[in-house]
Amino acid sequence: PPRVFSGVQPTGNLHLGNYLGAIRKFVGLQHEMESLFCIVDLHAVTVWQDPKALKAQTREIAAAYLAAGIDPDVATVFHQSAVPEHAELAWLFQCVARMGWLNRMTQFKDKAGKDKERASVGLFTYPTLMAADILAYKATHVPVGEDQKQHLELARDVAGKFNLDFGAEGFFPLPEPLIRGAGARVMSLRDGTKKMSKSDPSDLSRITLTDDADAIAKKIKKAKSDPDPLPSAEDGLEGRAEARNLVGIYAALSGMSEAEVLTRFGGQGFAALKPALADLAVEKLAPISSEMRRLMDDPGHIDAVLKAGAEKASSIAGPILRETKEIVGFLT
Ligand code: TYM
Repeated sequence: PPRVFSGVQPTGNLHLGNYLGAIRKFVGLQHEMESLFCIVDLHAVTVWQDPKALKAQTREIAAAYLAAGIDPDVATVFHQSAVPEHAELAWLFQCVARMGWLNRMTQFKDKAGKDKERASVGLFTYPTLMAADILAYKATHVPVGEDQKQHLELARDVAGKFNLDFGAEGFFPLPEPLIRGAGARVMSLRDGTKKMSKSDPSDLSRITLTDDADAIAKKIKKAKSDPDPLPSAEDGLEGRAEARNLVGIYAALSGMSEAEVLTRFGGQGFAALKPALADLAVEKLAPISSEMRRLMDDPGHIDAVLKAGAEKASSIAGPILRETKEIVGFLT
């Protein structure tokens, strides 16, 4: 049966890219397929996290899920560390995946930087944990932003090799990435060639889900652009990374196609697009941030939602793990 799994790291600075590329898509999918939405705290600690902040950040992602419209009575919402099957299956997958596969992961190269000797081992094996997240539930569909594409390919390779190595054809499904559509790749507001990211040192590079209306308006006003008027057709965006990004964000937030956005703004300058985009962003994001604030005032409620979600998740992953151990040859 089809099943959706996705996750977001509780590393702070939850931004418009996370919302448009991932969380917003979760909201629609929960009604189409059985869905699990995880807060991947085990992934977060591949880079040191302040323990107090980590708790707050975990609740913040839960609040964002709920505020965006994920219904915990419909979808399963939980944090990864509460379901030990993730880490257990990740170990097995570390024994299935090959060094060469992980050596090719571009995100590790980016995140580890120049001094790879000093990166944590967890940062290197990160994609095997991600494969375990998905396959502990035999999930078939994984909504993510464009930047997770390579990790999803690795998850498919792990599933295929496990099935082959243990003569268990079809045991793990090959999970399908759901990446299409507007918002799959939101770029930095300061540099249209870099993706919007939680770790960019410039706060002006991203709109976060906790920004108030003034902050959103200011960041869009200061967003990098170029001196030319907007083109009236999409091919005119070629080579204009910042223009493409702002038009793309407008399209994703409004539900219009990029062509429709250009029909409206073509021939006009950024002085027309930016204020309209700021109004639109405030209109769409303000209700989410105020609901997030309201939810975060009641951590007890969030914790109860996560606890119930973890129990539900365990009840799915438990039997799959038992079967996996049987296949591998562990005494069960
Ligand atoms: P993370 O926490 O970096 O990001 C969460 C989600 O947001 C998407 N995203 C973006 N989408 C569009 N434009 C951007 N600029 C942008 N930046 C981030 C990401 O693609 C992601 O969908 N490894 C994952 C978390 C994870 C996971 C999983 C996802 C762990 N296990 C299993 C799916 C299935 C990550 O670090 O996402």
